[in-house]
Amino acid sequence: MLPTIAREADAVVMIDQRKLPAEEVYVRAKSAAEVARAIKTMVIRGAPAIGVAAAMGLALGMRRSKATGTQKFAAEFQKSCDTMAATRPTAVNLFWAIERMKRAFAAAVQDGHSVDQIKDRLDAEAQAIHDEDVASCRALGAFGAEVVPADARILTHCNAGALATAGYGTALGVIRGAVEKGKRVAVFADETRPFLQGARLTAWELVRDGIDTTIITDNMSGALMRQGKVDLVVVGADRIAANGDTANKIGTYSVAVLAREHRLPFYVAAPLSTVDLNTPDGAHIPIEERSAKEVTHIGGSQMAPEGARVWNPAFDVTPHELIAGIITERGIFRAPYTESLKRAFEEVTLA
Ligand code: MRU
Repeated sequence: MLPTIAREADAVVMIDQRKLPAEEVYVRAKSAAEVARAIKTMVIRGAPAIGVAAAMGLALGMRRSKATGTQKFAAEFQKSCDTMAATRPTAVNLFWAIERMKRAFAAAVQDGHSVDQIKDRLDAEAQAIHDEDVASCRALGAFGAEVVPADARILTHCNAGALATAGYGTALGVIRGAVEKGKRVAVFADETRPFLQGARLTAWELVRDGIDTTIITDNMSGALMRQGKVDLVVVGADRIAANGDTANKIGTYSVAVLAREHRLPFYVAAPLSTVDLNTPDGAHIPIEERSAKEVTHIGGSQMAPEGARVWNPAFDVTPHELIAGIITERGIFRAPYTESLKRAFEEVTLA
């Protein structure tokens, strides 16, 4: 499996996703602040992977703390949590993971643990978040495989693969699950401007796995659908609101509208750590805006004139009406999402 992120005694090690596929190099972050910087600068990206990185970064930061008393240790931990939370605003997995680490910290304090014991508890929690994410991706991949026809042409957007998670992937988890069940799958990967996660990362992962992959630029998916060359769309998510509205990489909404026009099922695949019942609908999801340079430059070369303004939202929201189903580790949830997603957290398994 692809090594997206791993913990070593004195570092969090991440494959540098800014450099793929040209170079396969690893970044060793040696403090919580360095992990935070890696998240902000997209060394590591993708909602579940961001959550795992934050948890591992917090555990690493506290492992290296020199504090001897619980109070000072707790103050340092809170500061690191705040730094981590300020990296990227849209993917709710980040905040979910920070909350889990805070709960683990509080439980250890409640149990009267020493600073060293709290450090162990934080390490264990971060590793659990990592391992559970892989398990969730595998489980949702198996559920999602059921909606993939025996011979399928699947369009995906951005990278919701092993690189965007602790391993296996969400949208690509569904594709891998279908392939593992013996289905014939051909994938169309949207290039995904401006950061090119589709062309650089999704295509890289799929080609490595020997899965039939065709890259298209983002403005080609309509023509492809009109020619009858797509059977279904599967994408990942950065935050799914209580009513099913879903924030994902910019351009996802356009794909969803096109899928509706061409009567193609549009699925969202995500672990429940991406579902945020505290956000009522898409209008309440904070959308990150990134630097103009991501749009005006490609690979360091300037493509646009000085003086033009740039709008660069990193995500858009697909309204729930356009979503055929939300594929999670607990089954596939359908409209009305306000009820089904609430049930998702209550029931053990839904077919
Ligand atoms: O800006 P990014 O690359 O972090 O955005 C990633 C996406 O939008 C993914 O589709 C999403 O996080 C799902 S990852 C399993």
